[in-house]
Amino acid sequence: MGVEFVDLFDQWASSYDDTVAGKDPEYREVFEGYDSMLEELAQLSVSPVMEFGVGTANLTKKIIDQHKVVFGIEPSSEMRKIAKMKSPEAAIYAGDFLKFPKLQTPIRSIVSSFAFHHLNQEEKSAAIQMFHEQLEPQGKIIFIDTLFENEAHKKQLIQQAEADGFLNLAQDLQEEYYPYLEPLKETFAAHGFEVSCKQLNKYAWLIQATKGE
Ligand SMILES: C[S@@+](CC[C@H](N)C(=O)[O-])C[C@H]1O[C@@H](n2cnc3c(N)ncnc32)[C@H](O)[C@@H]1O
Repeated sequence: MGVEFVDLFDQWASSYDDTVAGKDPEYREVFEGYDSMLEELAQLSVSPVMEFGVGTANLTKKIIDQHKVVFGIEPSSEMRKIAKMKSPEAAIYAGDFLKFPKLQTPIRSIVSSFAFHHLNQEEKSAAIQMFHEQLEPQGKIIFIDTLFENEAHKKQLIQQAEADGFLNLAQDLQEEYYPYLEPLKETFAAHGFEVSCKQLNKYAWLIQATKGE
């Protein structure tokens, strides 16, 4: 449950940083502004931070550079190898959004970039409930991820990707669990979070959810 895409990330790990740097035309627009998006997320994070789907530790490094404490969780062993090489000082554990080591430290923010869409709707809801339990009062979830405004917007993005010849991207947009904006906000609200969303590029949005008292 929840880790069906991990083999793909084991295979992608060695070229992942080239992709986010814009070297793969197919995914250039998905990661457009990657560095400044991650910088914004790192600035918003409140220490101690828990990060899910660390990948190659690009966000983790930015959080550490800001002298914040971060505990990273990553299911792909190949991604973890690269993350530990790039950021030896980082605490990175095997795990995923739904199954992770229990931390004794109180957590004030939970962050993730380009990973939450790997959970289906039911799993997203279960994860948000667990995060509610893990976070301190007024704690924050801050995610960056691709989402669709609505069904028409999803169709339009898929058609554009197909017209551009980006068939892998078109397939991802259909097969992975990218949420619709309003239902995603409703899911956070149903678990006691106040949520706001802001579009960052053609695909990526910043999602900020604050736990009530
Ligand atoms: C597109 S990469 C993003 C990596 C990094 N956060 C970044 O912004 O570059 C997605 C990451 O999520 C991880 N992932 C996949 N399924 C996951 C799950 N169920 N829970 C947590 N992480 C997951 C993948 O292994 C991969 O490292």
